[in-house]
Parts: sequence; C-alpha cells; structure tokens
Amino acid sequence: MVLNEVAVRARNLWIGYEEEGEILWALNGIDIDIPKATAFCIVGESGSGKSTLGNAIAGLLPPYAVTKGRLDVYNISVIDGDKVDYSGVRGSIVVRIPQNPLSALNPYLKIESVFSDILKQRFRINSKVKALEIAQKALKAVDLPSDVLGRYPHQLSGGMGQRVAIALTIAIDPEIVVADEPTSNLDAYLKGATLNLLRDIVRKGKTLIVITHDILFASALCSFIAVMLMGNVVEIGKTEEVLSNPLHPYTRELIDAANLNFKNSKYAINRSKTNLRGCAYSSRCPKHSARCYEKPKLFYINESHGVACWNL
Ligand SMILES: Nc1ncnc2c1ncn2[C@@H]1O[C@H](COP(=O)(O)OP(=O)(O)O)[C@@H](O)[C@H]1O
Ligand SMILES: [Mg+2]
Repeated sequence: MVLNEVAVRARNLWIGYEEEGEILWALNGIDIDIPKATAFCIVGESGSGKSTLGNAIAGLLPPYAVTKGRLDVYNISVIDGDKVDYSGVRGSIVVRIPQNPLSALNPYLKIESVFSDILKQRFRINSKVKALEIAQKALKAVDLPSDVLGRYPHQLSGGMGQRVAIALTIAIDPEIVVADEPTSNLDAYLKGATLNLLRDIVRKGKTLIVITHDILFASALCSFIAVMLMGNVVEIGKTEEVLSNPLHPYTRELIDAANLNFKNSKYAINRSKTNLRGCAYSSRCPKHSARCYEKPKLFYINESHGVACWNL
C-alpha cells in the first residue's frame, strides 16, 4: 500500500497491561494497514484485543499500558517501542466514540457545555454564539432537536446518547473516527439509524474504524475487515472477499455463528497465557497440526486478503 494512503499502520505492535508486576499482553505483535477514507471493521469475540487496538489508535491507553513495536497514525509515529506520544493526534486527527457514550460524558455538564469545551480545545473557539451554531448544525446532522443542548447526560436515552456522541465527532471533524461497539445497546431500528450516520462519516472522506463482535453489522458497513483472536489478527481483507471466501477456520466459525444467529458467547474462550507462542485457535481447530505450536504469520493470497494459518 502507498504510504500516504494509509491512515493507520501497525508493525509488530504489542500492547500489554501491567498487573502486579506481570504483563498481560492484549495485542501480540500485530501488523495492520488501515487504508484512508474507508470503513474498516475489527471483529472478534470478547477479550480478543479489539478495544485495546482501538484505544491505541485513538491515544486512549491507560498509563500502565506497556508497548512494543510501532504504530503510525496519519504518518505520525505515536508508538515507537516504549515511546508513546499522541500530541497533535489525539482529539484532533483521531477521535473515539466510546462504547457507552453517555457514561463517558461528565454528568454535571449540560450537552451545550460539552460542545463548547470541545470546540474551545479543538479550534480555540471562544465565542458562545459560534460554538452554539456549530453544535446545532452537528445535532441536526444526526436528527436531534437543538433542545438537547440544554440537557444533562442522564436526561438522554441510550439512542440519543449515541447520536450526541456522533454529533460531537462531527463537530470535532477528525480524519479518523474509532467507533467501539457502536450498536451494542441499540435495538434494530436504532442500529439501522447508526449505520447510516456512520456511513455519512465515510462519505465525507474520513476513515472509520468500527469495532464490533457483530459480523453482520460489519458486513453492512465496512469495505475491509480484520478478524482478531486473542490478540492476533488471524484474517484480513476486503469484506466481501473474506466473507465469501473465509480462509481461517475461526472466521468460518464467526460466519456460521452469525448465520445461525447464535450469541457469540457460546464460543467465548478465556485468554490463556500458555497459548502465546502458537496459533491462538489451535485448541479448538479441526485442522490442527503439529505446526500450530508455532505462531503463523499473516500470509497474503492476493494484495489485500491475508490469513494466519498453516493448514490452508
Ligand atoms: N484497561 C485494562 N486494564 C487491564 N487489562 C485490560 C484493560 N483493557 C483490556 N484488558 C485486557 O486485555 C484483553 C483484551 O481486552 P479488550 O481489548 O478489551 O478486548 P475486546 O475489546 O476484544 O473485548 C482482555 O484480557 C482484557 O481483560
Ligand atoms: Mg471491547
């Protein structure tokens, strides 16, 4: 991929959390290129490291996170070994829509103040009138009435909270939006509405990174998909290609589960430290062979479709 066409590039990226002197690695040396101006989905079961990757891209890792390898966001090096620097990136080039937008907002601030604070930080807009104008326009874009500005977070429904979060993102106008499980608490109607709002972000030429365990939602929204399992990317490629020709047995399992409309909790497994060296899927893989004790690297069958499996 041409360098300036890439919004996010990770090379052998490791991210762990230090607990009681021990590091639990949530990302195990991943390589990923996320092209600009596309919708890119990261799917996988709970605990696979999706939010860790999203937070690393958005600059929202906790201070006790441990890093190795490289991460570039818009060609700016944000992680280089243990050096982490998001200045000029976090909250301007990249913004995250959190998993529970309402609980991420200060409960004692009216939505109006949230907008004016954010606009002050991002564009040094100090005029209340100007801030109000931008806020109203952003709320209109997500179909919310401007009286929302006078409300506190607890006075909004979950669906409205999701829209306020998207409106705030529109006001900040970043190049990259990371949406973490944007539909997890929404009913089917609101899911559809959120899908349309997220599509609008991509239509404006922005890069949208969507984290979801819902492969059907991913397929409706994204042109690219990366499948994660226990801190590894096990398959990556154009969505239609990955879904019509899944190469990794775990991707097949996810697709089958979605088709059968199972809850993916049926498949949830716990992270085991012993598995770090080999393929994360080997313990439940029907094609398991002796080679699987060694970790497979992503192997590309064409310029965009890669899979990490020894037994194709
Ligand atoms: N802030 C954190 N502190 C400590 N451990 C964390 C933190 N966030 C995630 N983890 C651990 O990292 C692993 C990956 O979690 P996460 O990135 O949240 O996965 P996902 O979003 O796919 O569910 C899990 O084992 C989780 O317990
Ligand atoms: Mg998560």
